[in-house]
Amino acid sequence: MISKTLELNKKKKRISNSKKFSIISYGCQMNVSDSEVVASILESIGYSYSDDINNSELVLLNTCSIREKAEQTVRKKLESINAVKKINKNLKVGVLGCMAERLKEKFLEEEKIVDLVVGPDAYRDIPNLLKEIEFGNDAVNVLLSKEETYADINPSRFNTNGINAFVSITRGCDNMCTFCIVPFTRGRERSRDPKSILKEINELVNNGYKEVTLLGQNVDSYLWYGGGLKKDFNKASEIQRRTSINFSKLLDLVAKNFPKTRIRFTTSNPQDIDDTVLETMAKHNNICNHIHLPVQSGSDKILKKMNRKHSSDEYLRLVDKIKKLLPDCGISHDMICGFPYETENDHLDTLSLMNKVKYDFGFMFKYSERPGTLAARKYKDNVPEEIKQRRLSEIINLQLKHSFENLSTYIDKYSNVLVEKESKKSKDYWCGRNPQNIMVVFPKDGYKIGDYAKVKILSNTSTTLIGEAIKK
Ligand code: 5AD
Ligand code: SF4
Repeated sequence: MISKTLELNKKKKRISNSKKFSIISYGCQMNVSDSEVVASILESIGYSYSDDINNSELVLLNTCSIREKAEQTVRKKLESINAVKKINKNLKVGVLGCMAERLKEKFLEEEKIVDLVVGPDAYRDIPNLLKEIEFGNDAVNVLLSKEETYADINPSRFNTNGINAFVSITRGCDNMCTFCIVPFTRGRERSRDPKSILKEINELVNNGYKEVTLLGQNVDSYLWYGGGLKKDFNKASEIQRRTSINFSKLLDLVAKNFPKTRIRFTTSNPQDIDDTVLETMAKHNNICNHIHLPVQSGSDKILKKMNRKHSSDEYLRLVDKIKKLLPDCGISHDMICGFPYETENDHLDTLSLMNKVKYDFGFMFKYSERPGTLAARKYKDNVPEEIKQRRLSEIINLQLKHSFENLSTYIDKYSNVLVEKESKKSKDYWCGRNPQNIMVVFPKDGYKIGDYAKVKILSNTSTTLIGEAIKK
């Protein structure tokens, strides 16, 4: 008994004495998911997570390079960490993710505060790199890999509500849209072994999670044939091809194996989402009817210059098919305005496409030239800033109108909502999403986080449905 107590005390002491790390994630959900992998790697060498960088020995910024503004946000954060470092002198600072990959060693020169630079495929090397810092050496690893998917690492969900989780299924992107830095910072597209995906979801479900979002830059292009590197599929044997698992098969497997779990996925690319994915969505009630389907522009001329692999007509036909096969499916988009050589007519084409689709919501951006991309090398960033801004406002205003109109159609109907968190506006209200990925708020009334609530929608804004749950 005594020795048991001693052991326990020792263990407690070890935990309280362990080094603390903080991670701050910027950009996409992939970074949030990667930070959980990094947290797991750090915990395996005795670190423990803290959300207070004043008390941490290590702070990591998981960075985004998608637009210049995203990089500026990271640089500003580094400035504020500089102030913390004046008091917390032992604090080491690391940068992970896309900006680390893009800037490589230059990061150390440009931002003197940075001790550690690690690209998205090199996180396993963090323990060694931390030792290098202790020896006073530069610690940089930005090697990209053709295999790495971190399949065997169980992510540490350090910042979780215990209900929603991301599960990454592919890494990298082979699409080479001309504006996009991602293929350069995240490397070649590769899929993760489905067995490891199912194992991770099984663990989540056993731990009480209610919803998983399958993540990848291009989930519909998922393909496992014994290996996962997309560009090598043409080298696969006949039997590997016959037994390969594509995205619709993976979705089917996940939905079948976890019938009580809500399944979402993002992001879809128009050229890769096929009928079998839509049929699988129709077949399973637990796959949420929402597709995030970036289009980027409504002009064929611009789509071509962007190296998008579809025309506006092909995209619209796909949307029609989705609406036919899945009548209550939410559809959202990403849109870029002010791409090089975008004329007023091209912009009107974008507005016209939006008027045809009538998206539920979207993420809309001004074109931002990214060093090294084909667009940066070949095209002049020649749409003046004030025109970009005006076009962006027009796109956003049109989206707000469509969102409001679409959300109004929910009034007097019931939405099935998974309770996720307290509403930001009132502690008396819960907030969750319906299958179409629309935020719903309603009075708490005996419900708790993780419950499903059948909510009668009473009113709406352009972003939120407001309702009342039927009594439990
Ligand atoms: N400028 C503006 N927006 C961009 N995106 C990607 N690259 C750029 C860029 N250079 C947007 C696209 C993409 C989303 C994740 O970010 O719309 O779908
Ligand atoms: Fe970038 Fe295009 Fe790949 Fe999306 S599909 S990550 S926009 S290259």
